[in-house]
Amino acid sequence: MKARPFYKLQFLNLAVFLAIFSFSYSQDDITGDGGRGYDLFQANCTACHQIDGTFIGPQIRGVVDRVKEEGGVGREWLHAWIKDNKALRESGDAYAIQVFEQYNRQEMLAFPSLTEQDIDDILVFSMDPEAGQAAFEQAKADAAAAAAAAKAANSGGDGAAAGVVIVGFFILAVLLIWILFRLNALVKLTRAEELTADDEEVAFSFAGFINKYEKLFRVALAVLVFLALYGVWNFMLGIGVDKGYEPEQPIYFSHQIHAGVQGIDCQYCHSSAKYGKVSGIPSPDLCMNCHKTIKEYRGDYYEEYLVESGRFSTPDEVKAFYTGEIQKMYKAVGWDPDTNNFTGEQRPIEWVRIHNMPDFVYFSHQQHVVAGEKAILQAIAEGTIPNAEELDLPGNSQVCFACHGDVTKMDELQMANQFTMGWCIECHRTTEVDMSNEYNSQYYAELHEKLKKEYGDGAKITVDAIGGLECGKCHY
Ligand code: HEC
Ligand code: HEC
Ligand code: HEC
Ligand code: HEC
Ligand code: HEC
Ligand code: HEC
Repeated sequence: MKARPFYKLQFLNLAVFLAIFSFSYSQDDITGDGGRGYDLFQANCTACHQIDGTFIGPQIRGVVDRVKEEGGVGREWLHAWIKDNKALRESGDAYAIQVFEQYNRQEMLAFPSLTEQDIDDILVFSMDPEAGQAAFEQAKADAAAAAAAAKAANSGGDGAAAGVVIVGFFILAVLLIWILFRLNALVKLTRAEELTADDEEVAFSFAGFINKYEKLFRVALAVLVFLALYGVWNFMLGIGVDKGYEPEQPIYFSHQIHAGVQGIDCQYCHSSAKYGKVSGIPSPDLCMNCHKTIKEYRGDYYEEYLVESGRFSTPDEVKAFYTGEIQKMYKAVGWDPDTNNFTGEQRPIEWVRIHNMPDFVYFSHQQHVVAGEKAILQAIAEGTIPNAEELDLPGNSQVCFACHGDVTKMDELQMANQFTMGWCIECHRTTEVDMSNEYNSQYYAELHEKLKKEYGDGAKITVDAIGGLECGKCHY
């Protein structure tokens, strides 16, 4: 690098450093990782605080500046408050008491388990929530990329397949370069006036080489073509693989609590599965059938497990968190739990869609949940559904579990299967059709007779035999 641009760069670095330093100094010397802060805030504080606007507690954006302006307090006070606000109030701290009175004497939880660094991280996040969230997402993406790279390096399956393809391409590249050099030598020869002995040797050795190893070249070419096709095939089967996808939802709605502990039937909420193509997500009105009266979470079935898992540090925190989620739902539907009236101020709940087939795929729940129910339940019992080992379903499974996994054990709903074409087809190949149900016995009577003649009376008739592999059945 030339000297001048080099010094320019140094000055720029120095200026940026000074700017950051003076900024953090003016913020009471709070330094930390806003990305971690975002994560901690999401896990511990969103039951009562929002980034913008008053919720149960005050808005978190700009809290550092606000307490400085209103109470003349800074980092020390914030640490003391967040660690144990009650102790701070009881110590007679005037501003702590003022804030408590201002928010109608609502108790904030104590967070003795948060470290100094944790709290600084949250405060850094509060200064610029967008930057914190972006840093968190970046860190998460980096970690996912690193994990994927590590997995590809370690795992036998996909990693090995990718490895084979890469080695194949490497060999191909070496071969091409070699041929290029050889051709180059030949071209030089054609330009030369006279062939020297050396030149002749080069020319004939190349032709001789090709002749001698012709078979080998053909085999190599065949292998390379095969590898390329294999890669394309794998790629096609893998498009849209999102197994394990578990997006963050606007309300932390737990299937484990509703469908598991409370035993509410899937179809009470997803009632259209029986009648049509989609299962649908229940409307908030349906939630209010129960939640007009269930205003807080009182369950005591869960706390120990959640505290042990490290997500929460005390049972009270667990309760406050879930109760806060119910409050969020009231905000969405516009319900005032104190007066038991609708306020008319609604905000639709924007659930993040988890399963979403491409438009060119036709999938009907009815076909599987009604006509296919008995067949699929039997396949679960026999362990022949795709991915059976990993899903490890209970004996009294419901038909939904075959594809969605045991939802009653999912606090946050996630995609339990691949939902690829290969996955649909695998199940259609192995699942025996229930010929006794009304729909099939009428619809397939003729076909059934034909198949019986062809394969004998007791033959297994799997879904592929009734057309479950025909492109047109699943594609428009
Ligand atoms: C159970 C509800 C609840 C939870 C959880 C909660 N807070 Fe609070 N917080 C409040 C309430 C309510 C207030 C208002 C003061 C009062 O009434 O005690 C408050 C006040 C504050 C204040 C003082 C703000 C001001 O403007 O003076 C800070 C800072 C704060 N909370 C940070 C946090 C952080 C950080 C977390 C997560 C680690 C958190 N809170 C979790 C309910 C909660
Ligand atoms: C009390 C109502 C309720 C019950 C009972 C319930 N669900 Fe849900 N379900 C929801 C809500 C709300 C969502 C959207 C939020 C989410 O994804 O967590 C949802 C989402 C889903 C999704 C993901 C939808 C998508 O976005 O792709 C599946 C799959 C699902 N439920 C299956 C089930 C199964 C299987 C059962 C029974 C074991 C069940 N649900 C019981 C309310 C319910
Ligand atoms: C059939 C009754 C019923 C319906 C319908 C119902 N809930 Fe619940 N909900 C409950 C019960 C019972 C609890 C647990 C209360 C306890 O354990 O103290 C609960 C707890 C909750 C909680 C706190 C635990 C958690 O899952 O985070 C939230 C939030 C919640 N419900 C949201 C919803 C939403 C959103 C809907 C509509 C999609 C809904 N509920 C529909 C009965 C119902
Ligand atoms: C044969 C596999 C299979 C079975 C069995 C099954 N589902 Fe699904 N489910 C799917 C597929 C595939 C999708 C994605 C559909 C789409 O995107 O068009 C889906 C999507 C959903 C959705 C998201 C909303 C929608 O309809 O697209 C919900 C909710 C759901 N299923 C609930 C259920 C419930 C409840 C049951 C049991 C009554 C059930 N499913 C049984 C495969 C299945
Ligand atoms: C758990 C096993 C299973 C999975 C996974 C599954 N299916 Fe099926 N499917 C069945 C069964 C069983 C039937 C036969 C239902 C009946 O008796 O009519 C069926 C029937 C069908 C039919 C009607 C076939 C015909 O000839 O009439 C279509 C279309 C279909 N499935 C589409 C899909 C699609 C698309 C997917 C993937 C998104 C899928 N299925 C995944 C078990 C499964
Ligand atoms: C049992 C249902 C089913 C049958 C039968 C079926 N497909 Fe598919 N196909 C799917 C599903 C589901 C997807 C979407 C997969 C995804 O999003 O990952 C898909 C995707 C595709 C794609 C896009 C590439 C991909 O894998 O995402 C092509 C191309 C395709 N199918 C061609 C065909 C052809 C050709 C046939 C007939 C030989 C066929 N399909 C039969 C269910 C089926």
